[in-house]
Amino acid sequence: MLSKIGVFDSGLGGLVITSALIKALPQYDYLYLGDTAHLPYGDKTSGRILKYTLDSLNYLISQDCKLIIIACNTATSICLRYIQQKYIPAHAPDVKVLGVVIPTVEVALSDNCCRIGVIATQATTNSHIYQTELKKINPNISVTEIATPRLVPMIEHNCFDDMEETLRSYLAQFPKLDSLILGCTHYPLIKEYCRRLLPQTKIISQDELMGAKLADYLHRHPEIETKLSRNGQRNFCVTRKNIDSERVAQQLYPQINVAEISILQK
Ligand code: DGL
Repeated sequence: MLSKIGVFDSGLGGLVITSALIKALPQYDYLYLGDTAHLPYGDKTSGRILKYTLDSLNYLISQDCKLIIIACNTATSICLRYIQQKYIPAHAPDVKVLGVVIPTVEVALSDNCCRIGVIATQATTNSHIYQTELKKINPNISVTEIATPRLVPMIEHNCFDDMEETLRSYLAQFPKLDSLILGCTHYPLIKEYCRRLLPQTKIISQDELMGAKLADYLHRHPEIETKLSRNGQRNFCVTRKNIDSERVAQQLYPQINVAEISILQK
């Protein structure tokens, strides 16, 4: 039986990544799940993040997604290794789960840069996943990770008035950088602020790389690609609807119809 591509995020930020995937690969069927009932993940414990991520993953698996992209950097940082190595082999061996950190690291290292900065949630920076993965490939680079917890609530609530000032104070904490990784699904929405504030620094935004990375992955994995259905269908759901989420969804994906679903809470 043919299956959809599932995309999961803790909220609606992942819609930016989904829309980039759809733009690059419009032929496939997509099911998006934003766990808005539990947003933000970034300030939660690893145990909570894992529980919410597994609940969402199980929902996508139950909806017949055989390829699932965890678009959330926080969930990728905390859960992906466990999911890929333990959970999926035991519970859904025919499902592939991919994250966003490794594709981002590969793009960051494709330039000859020496000083890389990362902005992300507290949970992501605490995990040091970017530093670990970047240095695994190039131990000589310097990596500075800074948690920027005020940004996600501002973006989800559509509060952009103080964005430039808030970002300016976060970015001032970095030494001189060659590249800055926007290590959170919401940050593509503020990439132009970053480009204005750091004109000499390459800004690495996941919406600009995930489409090509997924296309490349499917090209290298025909055994997965041939199992995907191709009706150009898109379905979007969240675990809790609210006025902000509807407005953000409309902005990110005009004409979007978002359904509220309940997922099994074990
Ligand atoms: N989606 C999360 C990420 O990419 C950010 C929002 C959150 O804290 O849940 O890290």
